[in-house]
Amino acid sequence: MENTQEIVRKKRALSCIQPTGIPTLGNYLGALRNWVDLQDELECFFAVADLHAITVRQEPAKLRQHTYEMFALLMAIGLDPEKSLLFVQSQVPTHTELSWLLSCNTQFGELSRMTQFKDKSQKHADNINLGLFAYPTLMAADILLYQPEFVPVGADQKQHCELTRDIATRFNGQYGQTFTVPEPYIMKTGARVRSLQEPTKKMSKSDENQNSFISLQDDKDTIIRKFKRAVTDSEACVRYAEGKDGINNLMEIYAAVTDKSLEAIEAEFAGRGYGDFKLAVGEAVAAELAPIQERFATLMKDKAQLDALMKVGAERAYLVSRRTVEKAKKRMGFLLTK
Ligand code: TRP
Repeated sequence: MENTQEIVRKKRALSCIQPTGIPTLGNYLGALRNWVDLQDELECFFAVADLHAITVRQEPAKLRQHTYEMFALLMAIGLDPEKSLLFVQSQVPTHTELSWLLSCNTQFGELSRMTQFKDKSQKHADNINLGLFAYPTLMAADILLYQPEFVPVGADQKQHCELTRDIATRFNGQYGQTFTVPEPYIMKTGARVRSLQEPTKKMSKSDENQNSFISLQDDKDTIIRKFKRAVTDSEACVRYAEGKDGINNLMEIYAAVTDKSLEAIEAEFAGRGYGDFKLAVGEAVAAELAPIQERFATLMKDKAQLDALMKVGAERAYLVSRRTVEKAKKRMGFLLTK
């Protein structure tokens, strides 16, 4: 029998990640891993946001290397270029083009209210450049170009998504229906992974203490060593409770990689010490990351293949996004080449 459901267009999702070095276990469990599951339900667009990366100073050789790494990593975690459109933002010129059109429809006051701008201009006081300020209009362009219904992001990007909705709604009102107004899609299962050394803080790769985070490239011994040194408490009982931030964090990580419930984990380690538990968490994480690391290493060995995959992605992304830019330009009164 014919499946009539297939004819209905799948809803679209778009998200991007900046190429700022190998992500942590926190980035993986909190966001990236969920993208893999979205691929079957939705028509997905995923990009490496290299143009966003230059809002803070980048060494060219590092930017190049990090862009390859992030693109390879997206595939290594299971994003499939046959199912989803994977591309590098700077290879698709419509992003900067639409960004200008949107800039002229975004207010200084709106951009001034962005908390990320305030934070970053404090952190990089010597380089408060125009791009850092305009960052959200480039992000709005990334999104609106592909007319997605959903934007899967972490909570820190919610404000930028709200601004994107405001820009799209206002543009549609002023020039006529042009953009789909997208919804932020805050992941339901995203684990909030915290620092192994200061478990009240988010796990971050910019932390000076290497023991506080797991990099997706850490080998098994390193992973086990870091978990062994993780800060816990003196109760010596594996249970999830207020005030046990260190153990709660380890339990959440273990739950996320093994799919076990917190109750099942408490039962599994009843009467056993933290040493046993930390070893089990380290082993489970190492086992989860091993196949990703293997695929990543294989992909990184063949830059020509990565270049070719990027090219296919960029061409397809251009075809989809060009339609939106042309529509926007026409509505605004620009003459298109005939
Ligand atoms: N600003 C996002 C971040 O740093 C990355 C990003 C750029 C993005 N363009 C996007 C995310 C479009 C979602 C949609 O995490």
